[in-house]
Amino acid sequence: MTVVTEVFQVDPENIDSAAITAAARALVDGRLVAFPTETVYGLGANALDPAAIDRIFAAKQRPFSDPLIVHLANAEQIDQVAINIPDVVTSLAARFWPGPLTLVLHRAPAVASNVASGRNTVAVRVPAHPVAHALLVACALPIAAPSANLFSRPSPTTAQHVLDDLDGRVDIVLDGGTTTIGLESTVVDLTATPPRLLRPGGVGVEALRQLLPDLIVPETPLVVAEAEAVSSPGTLLKHYSPRASVVLLRGDAEAAQRCIHAAAPVLHERGLRLGLLLPDEELNGYTDIPVKLVSLGPAHDLTVIGQRLFARLRELDSLNVDVIVARAMWERDETSELAIAIHDRLYRAAEGRIFDADNPRVLEWLLNITSAVSPESTAY
Ligand code: TXA
Ligand code: MG
Repeated sequence: MTVVTEVFQVDPENIDSAAITAAARALVDGRLVAFPTETVYGLGANALDPAAIDRIFAAKQRPFSDPLIVHLANAEQIDQVAINIPDVVTSLAARFWPGPLTLVLHRAPAVASNVASGRNTVAVRVPAHPVAHALLVACALPIAAPSANLFSRPSPTTAQHVLDDLDGRVDIVLDGGTTTIGLESTVVDLTATPPRLLRPGGVGVEALRQLLPDLIVPETPLVVAEAEAVSSPGTLLKHYSPRASVVLLRGDAEAAQRCIHAAAPVLHERGLRLGLLLPDEELNGYTDIPVKLVSLGPAHDLTVIGQRLFARLRELDSLNVDVIVARAMWERDETSELAIAIHDRLYRAAEGRIFDADNPRVLEWLLNITSAVSPESTAY
């Protein structure tokens, strides 16, 4: 079913209360509202209304097995959505909320069961974005909101990205500009003993360990076999995928350049368009070959790279490239808490294809990726 999507501009520093009132009324009526958070745009619906929640799954074409995050205006509302809340939540909330941390807790019966895909748990966060906050206060409801993209497309960091995927499928879009973090929240499961990191994000592991010293952090990237993914669905490999096939190249800039220079003419010959997603410092090595160059930002400015990553993957899609080569530069970077989250998203976009640029077989693998699977990716 299609609807006419209304778009309201809302300046985060000078909030238009008429737009917020209209959006809050839509939520109360069981309709869908996309809104900015500090991480990515969310596609919101009343978490207490199962029919409204079904509309989210339909609009996103999201499998019903992948549960949603419930958003609250403030931590005091947590008793409306969760039960048997462990004491540590008080200190986690004081330290990290509002902000990009999602906690998985035991679900209160009032929360629609389809929010949690039938589980007895619920994921909860209090977003820091002023527009999200104003909306949550105005509707006075817990709001379930996954990222406002079609399933398996990169998460939206602008209102235009939301419209590109969901125009005609969402009732209202609140346009509050580009989101500041650009990567989704960190998800921690507090129903597991010891607690477990399910998704790396804006809140880093070191900071979390100060309050959760026994936090289990699975080997990065956080990838599980599809069968096991039922317990932590967001860890499915093909979760953040642009339309093109993505490959990550590990190694120094010169090795990557040699490899890409060898591959580019062959791909060109085969009629395949090649896109490169590179840090600014490496761009000038590729001006003489037939590729679409997209810059991610300065290699060491992970704030900027996090903000841009999903937008740049969408940009490469709109350039109609068939193959995207990106650099795996942040895999073992411990200088920033964002590095692990950035690598995780790139790795998923690449569906696990990560090659050493100086491996003698790298050209063969690279040229085969549209048809064959590499030796490394079959390990997952
Ligand atoms: O930053 C964010 O978290 C954004 C904004 C809009 O808040 N939302 C977001 O939602 O990224 P979504 O649906 O794209 O990702 C939700 C993640 C998924 O990995 C999902 O599997 C996990 O949270 N999740 C939700 N409920 C869960 C539950 N009860 N148990 C385990 N994982 C859960
Ligand atoms: Mg998502």
